[in-house]
Amino acid sequence: MVGDHMRLLVTGGAGYIGSHTVIELIGAGHDVVILDNLSNSHTVVIDRISEISGTRPTLVVGDIGDAELVDSLLSEHSPEAVVHFAGLKAVGESVAQPLRYYRNNVAGTISLLERLDAHDIRTLVFSSSATVYGEPESLPITEDAPVWSVNPYGETKVQIEHILSDLAVSDDRWRFAALRYFNPVGAHPSGRIGEDPPDIPNNLMPYITQVAVGALDRVMVFGDDYDTPDGTGVRDYIHVVDLARGHVAAIDALGDRSGFHAWNLGTGVGTSVLELINTFRSVNEVDIPYEITPRRPGDTAASYTDPAKAERDLGWKAQHDVADMCRHSWRWQSRNPTGYRG
Ligand code: NAD
Ligand code: UD1
Repeated sequence: MVGDHMRLLVTGGAGYIGSHTVIELIGAGHDVVILDNLSNSHTVVIDRISEISGTRPTLVVGDIGDAELVDSLLSEHSPEAVVHFAGLKAVGESVAQPLRYYRNNVAGTISLLERLDAHDIRTLVFSSSATVYGEPESLPITEDAPVWSVNPYGETKVQIEHILSDLAVSDDRWRFAALRYFNPVGAHPSGRIGEDPPDIPNNLMPYITQVAVGALDRVMVFGDDYDTPDGTGVRDYIHVVDLARGHVAAIDALGDRSGFHAWNLGTGVGTSVLELINTFRSVNEVDIPYEITPRRPGDTAASYTDPAKAERDLGWKAQHDVADMCRHSWRWQSRNPTGYRG
């Protein structure tokens, strides 16, 4: 049964968003077991989670697609619900290696769902993405906008959402939340956990923090000729701690809802590339050299949510502004200049 304090399985819980969410779940009184193959994370994260939360979550190192391992984990820990972060997430890599993305994300999720079904566990919160809105036709984006994708990574999110929705139709005991994240940035205010990309970052905020720490020369601003107020791309940046709290709210909300539900998680505020760079500079008092370069293929001019549905159904609203996101991203990066490898 879905209740107040639950035993939860968190797949991908050692990753960037997963680790912040585990802290909020523990804070809300839940017991957490993490399943992570560490393909994009480090065990030291678990030490940091325990340091911040005062509780050490159990870590099972392994793959969501390993049916035998998942079976034994479910038998041993009997979770009542799942928060499913595990997945590969680099858009460019997904274009170069589509089979790896479909195998890991889609086939991995199907295998996980089969094992959950066999163990009568039918409540799951899924990490979806605003990428499922493709190139949005109108702004702000609401949950009923068409769902389609422009790259294999996005297609894995669309396909998984369809699988969850079909399953929910087939058997009304399933309870699914697809949380469509806008642009998660920031870090835990303690400065102990944060985003740690393995290579040169693809995303804007980790690129800015690497420039700030001196690891990279300057930010390439991908285009200043978009139809936006200053010509640079506009996105709905959301603090990762707010996003993490959205998962706690979604688990609660599934307590009295069956079926498949999609919720956008964002602030509703659009911020341009130059606004983000300038806010980072002013709140942290560090210089961020930048250069305007051509547009990045596949980018849209602007993307931001209408946060009303999440606020109404989940009783959740983002609390942090862009200045907090910049402050906390810098605190994490400046105290951990080489991330978890330091
Ligand atoms: P992350 O790479 O930091 O975390 C993902 C975690 O899953 C990692 O710890 C990785 O080791 C693990 N993992 C990957 N494949 C696995 C598998 N087959 N079995 C077990 N563990 C596996 O990424 P993140 O930024 O924390 O993203 C978490 C989820 O949110 C992903 O599904 C991602 O697609 C989605 N998402 C992220 C963003 C973003 O901007 N970060 C935006 C929208 C959606
Ligand atoms: C990207 C992915 C999206 C994914 C999301 C979270 C693409 C096309 N989209 O979203 O599928 O869900 O990350 O992982 O990759 N920018 C620069 N310079 C940079 C990096 C980015 O100017 O070095 C600009 C971009 O043009 C965009 C904004 O900054 O306007 C944000 O970019 P980014 O952080 O990569 O996120 P998205 O492109 O929104």
